Amino acid sequence: MGLEVHSYSPAYSRESLAGLIELSDHVIFNSPAQWQRFADLRNSSEKVSFGLRYNPNHSETDVALYDPSAPLSRLGTVKDQLPPNFIKQIDGLHIHNLCEKDAPALQRTWQAVEKQLGSQLEHLRWINLGGGHQITRDGYQQEVLIQLVQTIRERYGCNVYLEPGEAWALESGYLVASVLDLHHNQAQLAILDTSASCHMPDVLEMPYRPDVLGSAEAGVKEWSYRLGGVSCLAGDVVGDYSFDRPLQIGDRLVLPIWHTIPWSKRQLLMASAYRLFISPIHAQVNCAACAVLVIRISRGAYHNALFVFRNEQYQAAGCSFSRNSCASGAKCQLWCRHSPWS
Ligand SMILES: Cc1ncc(COP(=O)(O)O)c(C=O)c1O
Repeated sequence: MGLEVHSYSPAYSRESLAGLIELSDHVIFNSPAQWQRFADLRNSSEKVSFGLRYNPNHSETDVALYDPSAPLSRLGTVKDQLPPNFIKQIDGLHIHNLCEKDAPALQRTWQAVEKQLGSQLEHLRWINLGGGHQITRDGYQQEVLIQLVQTIRERYGCNVYLEPGEAWALESGYLVASVLDLHHNQAQLAILDTSASCHMPDVLEMPYRPDVLGSAEAGVKEWSYRLGGVSCLAGDVVGDYSFDRPLQIGDRLVLPIWHTIPWSKRQLLMASAYRLFISPIHAQVNCAACAVLVIRISRGAYHNALFVFRNEQYQAAGCSFSRNSCASGAKCQLWCRHSPWS
């Protein structure tokens, strides 16, 4: 692909790890035990750089479902489980601790990591600060991020990676759904040709309330409906909304893409980890939207990438990435072209 592929899983089977090593530039283990168990596979690979996911035990995210530092989290190794001198053996550390956060949350996370690991960080060749950075949101404190990345690079002499996932797709298009049927059970129900469970899983999991253009909260406008999807899941409900006029069969409802990313983030990550088994177009989708392909951050590259997001994301049409940033423009174009609502 001509880009770097970083792979991580909370646990690998021997077979999946052997396949991933062939595909990846960086492979990140979740625990020292897995690192040890697969020493033979690591040693047989010359091109892959291996690291460990570290759990800073520092919560920045209120919703436990999305908080890698939540109590009893299985994601990453906490400090007291690190064998002595373990960090000297690995190339890099992976710390994914955020969800939809601004740069100060990353600063605080990094301060926690520095406090816990101190000079051990000097042994690392790379530090991957994971995803959850809403770098494309208006008001995101870019300068704070840039400064932090520069400081880490200079202080530890290592490469710094970010894995923004959702930020790639934030407000980048619309999900357009049609009303298939109107129904009544204690309230007015509208059944749409979409599904919260299949097309916007975070709406159920977080949960989020997606916008529907022209609507208001239930009861605010004259005509209220519970919008539901076509799957067989009883809870496949988008939410309760009201409109200025009664809905009719065939009406089209427009949901700005924010939380209605075609696949959930985790599906994207899984799909890219196992992209051998999915079609080329889907592999391209991963390239455009998924965190596994990371932007190597330098001041220039970051600005370029951001420029492209800001100007072209809203048009949901071909993003051509400029000079320094990762060259995934073609993939982004593909995503737009094949996306059902473009
Ligand atoms: C390891 C890792 N990196 C990156 C991401 C992307 O996060 P986001 O889409 O919130 O930026 C995730 C999402 O869960 C993740 O688990």
